[in-house]
Amino acid sequence: MVMTGKADKILFGGDYNPEQWDEAVWEEDMRLFKLAHIDTVTLNVFSWAALQPDENTYDFAKLDKILDRVEANGLKVCMATSTAAHPAWMARKYPDVLRTEHNGMRRKFGSRHNSCPNSPTYRKYAAALAGKLAERYRNRESIAAWHVANEYGGECYCENCEKAFRSWLKEKYGTLEELNRVWDTAFWGHTFYDWEEVVVPNLQSEEFYWEGSIRTNFQGISLDYRRFNSDSMLECYRLEQEAVKKYTPHIPVTTNLMGFYKPLDYQKWAQNMDFISWDNYPAYGALPEQAAMTHDLMRGLKQGMPFALMEQTPSVSNWHTYCALKRPGVMRLWSYQAVAHGSDTVMFFQMRRSIGACEKYHGALIDHAGHEHTRVFREMETLGAELEKLGGVLPGGRTKAKAAIVMDWDNWWAAEYSAGPSRLINYTEELLTYYKAFYRLNIPVDMISVEDDLSGYQLVAAPMLYMCKGGFDEKLRQFVAAGGHFLTSYFSGYVEEHDLVVTGGYPARLRDILGIWVEESDALPEGNKNCFSYNGIRYPASVMCDLLHLEGAEALGAYGEDFYAGYPALTAHDFGKGKAYYVATRSDEAFYKELIGQVCEGAGIRPLMDAPERIEVTVRENGNGVFLFLLNHGEDTEEVMLPAAGEELLTGIRYGAGEKIVMEKKDVAILKMDGWTER
Ligand code: GLA
Ligand code: ZN
Repeated sequence: MVMTGKADKILFGGDYNPEQWDEAVWEEDMRLFKLAHIDTVTLNVFSWAALQPDENTYDFAKLDKILDRVEANGLKVCMATSTAAHPAWMARKYPDVLRTEHNGMRRKFGSRHNSCPNSPTYRKYAAALAGKLAERYRNRESIAAWHVANEYGGECYCENCEKAFRSWLKEKYGTLEELNRVWDTAFWGHTFYDWEEVVVPNLQSEEFYWEGSIRTNFQGISLDYRRFNSDSMLECYRLEQEAVKKYTPHIPVTTNLMGFYKPLDYQKWAQNMDFISWDNYPAYGALPEQAAMTHDLMRGLKQGMPFALMEQTPSVSNWHTYCALKRPGVMRLWSYQAVAHGSDTVMFFQMRRSIGACEKYHGALIDHAGHEHTRVFREMETLGAELEKLGGVLPGGRTKAKAAIVMDWDNWWAAEYSAGPSRLINYTEELLTYYKAFYRLNIPVDMISVEDDLSGYQLVAAPMLYMCKGGFDEKLRQFVAAGGHFLTSYFSGYVEEHDLVVTGGYPARLRDILGIWVEESDALPEGNKNCFSYNGIRYPASVMCDLLHLEGAEALGAYGEDFYAGYPALTAHDFGKGKAYYVATRSDEAFYKELIGQVCEGAGIRPLMDAPERIEVTVRENGNGVFLFLLNHGEDTEEVMLPAAGEELLTGIRYGAGEKIVMEKKDVAILKMDGWTER
């Protein structure tokens, strides 16, 4: 369960900042919340300066009142700890709380997410505040979850961090000799003779801008700094978590994550969180499959446990380049998309639009007009009523997937730090390419980490597994030997966990499983293409073309052009009872759909059902039954033929097997199926 209390419905609400308003407004808020069927509010996200006006004073009077008010109105509270922005007095008195940027610039007070994660002052006072809040509100039954800080993120390169980095390295590597080995410091005469010689990798040292992104001369150093920075922030989270758990061990603790957020290794974070929550802000024009993949990534962080959609905007995000409105129906559609992928909440930023500073034009339930007679309010009210009507039938539902895609933060960092082979190397884009194919085929997929158990899957895809770390190859070997199907792509298996090349021929530790040897790789400049044939159709090859030898695998397609025409571009290898596929290049959507379709068929995985192209299909099941979600992301009315009989829960209409359900554009159907058999 994502929050405490009875899971009697999908929770509906979001960030509420009454401290920005007079009390007279609070009463009106309560009226409007009731109208919109709001049941949960996230309080106290940015109130540190109010709660602690100076070093020795804490003042909870206003928050007490706010809590009294929301409790009197029967609302659940997701209680934030307010530590994502430190007070101005703290920055003045203890400048060690301030961050230093990548270019070495020391910041002054300002903005938010502004504290150095290794500042002793920040750690001490953040944990103290969290503890005081928990102590004070330990008996408030309205508190359903702790929301630590807010969207942890960014990096710091200050002296605190430099010192802490050295300790982190000492702890990890023990000796300078080992440090020199894993960083390959014999290159460019970097040998370290004293830990104090190690400095943070930033623009002042190893890193530089290259074609719009940050590059590094020493991948090993930069990679470790990313790990260290993620660990440092995680430590801040853990300190606060510990502080609140001391008083309220029964209340689950979370922090709002941000999907594919590169700086933090969420798979490591998740092990320390009671439940996952995240903020979904797709850019205008983003594809529904991007959000779908991100929801699946968030669900995968805790092995399929339901998560919380902590924030999304009801209408606009003020910080996009063009703050386009969510079209009618889209907010509802995307809310159900989150639920369809495993969320047990539909929450928003924010309940009431502020009047000042940079978020005054961000969407809200209650607009500056101040009343309920707006399109956005009406849409939220309708959704709120629906969720109330649905009641407790959906929460706790799990997704059953027989296919998984591997996502690994270390690999993301390493692959994209890699100097060469191509500027077009893009890990998450590669993942999306594969994900899309499953999505279009209506085949559910889990996004998993290299630590997860593979034995429940029939197919594991790990595209662009540049870094194959810590025994993952052995796990794959056993998985395939036992009958599993495995799929990977170009730029895989090059390095181990320190980004040191595994010599002896690519893809090194994956070579025996795949039955190939990649001798060379040709990076094709943007716009250049080769081609290959597969199942009699010619597909484009771009980005990279591996020149590989078969070592037991068979070629399923070969390049059509250049000096390596005739070399395999796609291979399959029978290994033990299973099969391992290798895609030696990058191709187009049609190819991946064809390939994934065939690989799934070979692995005994069938689509959930057939549906028109723009209809998204997912299934969640719990003790109440099997629920089929149909989401029309398109611009047209669609007819969807149902594979089995069931009751549509939003309309109460019953459909027989083979009957068609008509879906208007942006519409949603949730069917409780009578006899859903495992496909
Ligand atoms: C983030 C933050 C919120 C708010 C919204 C605006 O998700 O967590 O505090 O700034 O963005 O989109
Ligand atoms: Zn710092």
